[in-house]
Amino acid sequence: MKLTVTFLSTLAATVVTTAIARPYVAEPIVDGANFGVFARQEAVASNETFVPPTITSPASRSLQPDFPIHESCNKSQRMQLERGLFDLKRLLRGAADHILLHGNQSEVYQTYFGEGSDPSVPLGIYLRVLESDKSATLFRCDDPDRNCETQPTYNGHWRGNNATGETVICPLSFQTRLPIEKACANGFSLIHDNVNVYWATDLLHRAMHLPTMTNDHVGHTADEYPALLELARNNVTESVKNQHSLQDFAFEAFVRANIDEQGCPADRHHEDHDHEHEHDDHDHDHDHDASPTSTISATSTSASATAAAQDCHTHADGTVHCV
Ligand SMILES: *[C@@H]1O[C@H](CO)[C@@H](O)[C@H](O)[C@H]1NC(C)=O
Ligand SMILES: *[C@@H]1O[C@H](CO)[C@@H](O)[C@H](O)[C@H]1NC(C)=O
Ligand SMILES: *[C@@H]1O[C@H](CO)[C@@H](O)[C@H](O)[C@H]1NC(C)=O
Ligand SMILES: *[C@@H]1O[C@H](CO)[C@@H](O)[C@H](O)[C@H]1NC(C)=O
Ligand SMILES: *[C@@H]1O[C@H](CO)[C@@H](O)[C@H](O)[C@H]1NC(C)=O
Repeated sequence: MKLTVTFLSTLAATVVTTAIARPYVAEPIVDGANFGVFARQEAVASNETFVPPTITSPASRSLQPDFPIHESCNKSQRMQLERGLFDLKRLLRGAADHILLHGNQSEVYQTYFGEGSDPSVPLGIYLRVLESDKSATLFRCDDPDRNCETQPTYNGHWRGNNATGETVICPLSFQTRLPIEKACANGFSLIHDNVNVYWATDLLHRAMHLPTMTNDHVGHTADEYPALLELARNNVTESVKNQHSLQDFAFEAFVRANIDEQGCPADRHHEDHDHEHEHDDHDHDHDHDASPTSTISATSTSASATAAAQDCHTHADGTVHCV
């Protein structure tokens, strides 16, 4: 029990100080079994401090942790994409740390994934996108399948069977996507707005389409916010691998840790309701700010007919999915 407490406080302290690096190296618990593993030939002075050996594996030497960016992205696009991928790392690290600290017991966790679900599933998905080998993936800015050109609502797309490791980012993304520190700005609300307006969550979605990240285990059982909450209540085995639930949990965990402890202010007054959101009837005007800098308003549900609002991609079987 004491060991658990020590471990958790070490973890908590390290999580606070290292936002992106691996969160902790657990102090080894020196017991009889470990002495067997780490037995050394030389004599050991009785006052010598145990220093754990550095453990390397073939994987830790060969994996490429960052997504490659294709030469078709010009310097400006590359910088924006690098910045967005950095946001993605922050998002994933925060989501993983939240689950490492709270398991399936936090309010945010239970909102999106349900009370009785296995936290290893979302944790594994976040860590896999964060740390798995990216060498067989590619983000590109040209338009090899001509989806950007022919479909003005496309912010980007997975190339599906044409190139399963590749993702195209369309020019529209560079006009609409926001940095993660703008989370909640301009009245953004998870209930009303499309979380894909942020680079971090949009790139999480795109990463989850790559077979090497998720093996197609992540799906689209529910997309709309009320449907996500219902899924968490009714089918926890589906909620933990539902794409939009994974995005929204990660976003809200980030917001609560870094922006506002209670989540985006625009979502707050909904908490009194019993989650029966008839959100389409809600008297909530997101289009009030028509200034060109307000990309949020262009992505609200009420403006879903506008170009930036929809987020479409093609699945391996050719079906197009827009959210
Ligand atoms: C351990 O003990 C030896 C002699 O008994 C002494 O020379 C050495 O400085 C000690 N090391 C530490 C870390 O206290
Ligand atoms: C980069 O490419 C985009 C899309 O083609 C273009 O709009 C932009 O002007 C380019 N930037 C530079 C600095 O060349
Ligand atoms: C999830 O939560 C339930 C209680 O709600 C608990 O019994 C269960 O052990 C938890 N599962 C895991 C994998 O931690
Ligand atoms: C793959 O390429 C074909 C032929 O160019 C194109 O019709 C199709 O839309 C592409 N698929 C995707 C997912 O873009
Ligand atoms: C959850 O959804 C899956 C897939 O639709 C289904 O097979 C399963 O029976 C559902 N579980 C419950 C408890 O409804």
